[in-house]
Amino acid sequence: MRVTVLYENHSGFRKGPLGGHGFSALVEHNGKRVLVDTGTEGDVLLRNMGQLGIAPGSIDYVFLTHGHYDHTGGLKAFLEARDRPVPVIGHPEIFRRRMALKPHRRDIGIPFGRGELEALGAEFILDDKPFQFTPGFWSSGEIKRATWDRAVGYVEENGRLVKDTVPDDIALAVDLGDGVAVLTGCGHSGVLNIAWHAEDLLGKPVKALIGGLHLIGASEELLKDVVENISAEVIYAGHCTGIESFAYLRARLGERVRPLHVGKSFEV
Ligand SMILES: [Fe+2]
Ligand SMILES: [Fe+2]
Repeated sequence: MRVTVLYENHSGFRKGPLGGHGFSALVEHNGKRVLVDTGTEGDVLLRNMGQLGIAPGSIDYVFLTHGHYDHTGGLKAFLEARDRPVPVIGHPEIFRRRMALKPHRRDIGIPFGRGELEALGAEFILDDKPFQFTPGFWSSGEIKRATWDRAVGYVEENGRLVKDTVPDDIALAVDLGDGVAVLTGCGHSGVLNIAWHAEDLLGKPVKALIGGLHLIGASEELLKDVVENISAEVIYAGHCTGIESFAYLRARLGERVRPLHVGKSFEV
């Protein structure tokens, strides 16, 4: 399996691709190309795909890890850059309206309606149960929260703001035969829950955990819990992991913990 990072908070070390808040990665396995998330800005996503030689029309599936704008904002431009429909996998709650209150009240949900995306060729397959959408590629379904999670934001219920549990936070689990590779967008379900869920789903150890771990601002107690209980062989941590939390994990887990940046490409 090959992973190529297309959208990341860190710009990397070459001319051309741009860094930006958000996440997107191409996963290639079993002859299929799956685009995991689409970053925030469509023009940045398309620029980076162009710089890295990846044609939008070559993508077989889009997998949305959750509905936040920094994972879905590039979807419309991506669809416009293609001339054929594409299946888009996600959780039924990706279109929920959600907001952040800090540093000011703002919408943080998917910035498009379902209808306009369908008109551009998105064929949504939304399911909260795990399923294999093409050989070797599994949608995790809703992730069981056996321990702490990292949900953020609010939703409106009966005119009141209540905390958003981000139920739509799912992961892509890729069956590698002797193990599983897991891609998470923001890790809102909690990195330990995500790894355990993927292990249970495929009955195999996690070879690699890749994506945003949402440990930004995490307490030392929580980071210690990750160090002691994360079983993944390697962890490619970027996006919302947070530089301090990344440094903490790297100092304790060594080269098992690796950074991400736009344009990085690696085999698992
Ligand atoms: Fe995110
Ligand atoms: Fe998020």
